[in-house]
Amino acid sequence: MRSNGSTPLALIQVLSRAAVDPTYLDLLLTDPVRATEAYSLTASQRLSVERLTRESFYEALGGVVSHWFAPVRVTPRILALPEWDDTPTAGSEIGLRLRRGWPFGNGTHPTTQLCLRALETFLRPGDSVVDLGTGTGILAIAAARMGASRVLALDTEIDAVADARYNIELNAVQAVVTVEHGSLERALATPGEAPILWDIVVVNLAMPTILDLLRERLSSTLRGGGTLVLAGFRHHEADFLRQALGHTPLVPFAEDRIGSWMSLVCRKGADLAERGRETNQC
Ligand SMILES: C[S@@+](CC[C@H](N)C(=O)[O-])C[C@H]1O[C@@H](n2cnc3c(N)ncnc32)[C@H](O)[C@@H]1O
Repeated sequence: MRSNGSTPLALIQVLSRAAVDPTYLDLLLTDPVRATEAYSLTASQRLSVERLTRESFYEALGGVVSHWFAPVRVTPRILALPEWDDTPTAGSEIGLRLRRGWPFGNGTHPTTQLCLRALETFLRPGDSVVDLGTGTGILAIAAARMGASRVLALDTEIDAVADARYNIELNAVQAVVTVEHGSLERALATPGEAPILWDIVVVNLAMPTILDLLRERLSSTLRGGGTLVLAGFRHHEADFLRQALGHTPLVPFAEDRIGSWMSLVCRKGADLAERGRETNQC
């Protein structure tokens, strides 16, 4: 329903008023030009509801409500909760509280879910983890809640760093997770410190960035036998990625799919010792 020039905030402003004011909704549906004048809609608000129908209004309202206010089941075990929801989760369930508003990293995207599934399968308590491209911090928080001993969450966007830090405090995992502005260079070495070799590195990034990182020695972040989780690419790109991995010490040994999205899990070096439920051997 949104088009160029509109913003999520403009859409929410219009939908939330229309949800409680039938006259406003009727005028938007029947005479958008008069509604624009009568209610002094901004250009962005007007654009956000272009071609509005009663059906698309209820559909969009449902989407906004679930995005902002409803828990999202991310995997059978993981639930992404709005930040104010501190309902205790049952048994082995993991509830991740996240500030809503940033669609990527709220847990609903298939590539995030693929990474979470891989962490559920391959992370062992005590593992050290790098989350390269942390966004909201969802993977870093999940890794900490699954028992990682140390997590380094990195992002090149300063807003993402702030968002991730907020969510990490919200989930009280700051003793385990450090969020920093940066990328591969930071995972390879901290100035003045000996390089750390990590147990797991998780990368949910677009294919060109993954290829750049592989060329820039992404594999050097891992200890021998360490695990790399790659997501952010489509099924038809997998062969190309496998070819690129052929020039590195990383050996793909498991894969997963949601729709056309795919993840590849790689082990560094020849040490393919059994660590997880490696059901989807490739
Ligand atoms: C696709 S989102 C993934 C967010 C989250 N990890 C998830 O799985 O939902 C990618 C994030 O990586 C960041 N990013 C992009 N390129 C990067 C790079 N080269 N190094 C580190 N972060 C990067 C972006 O700013 C964005 O926050």
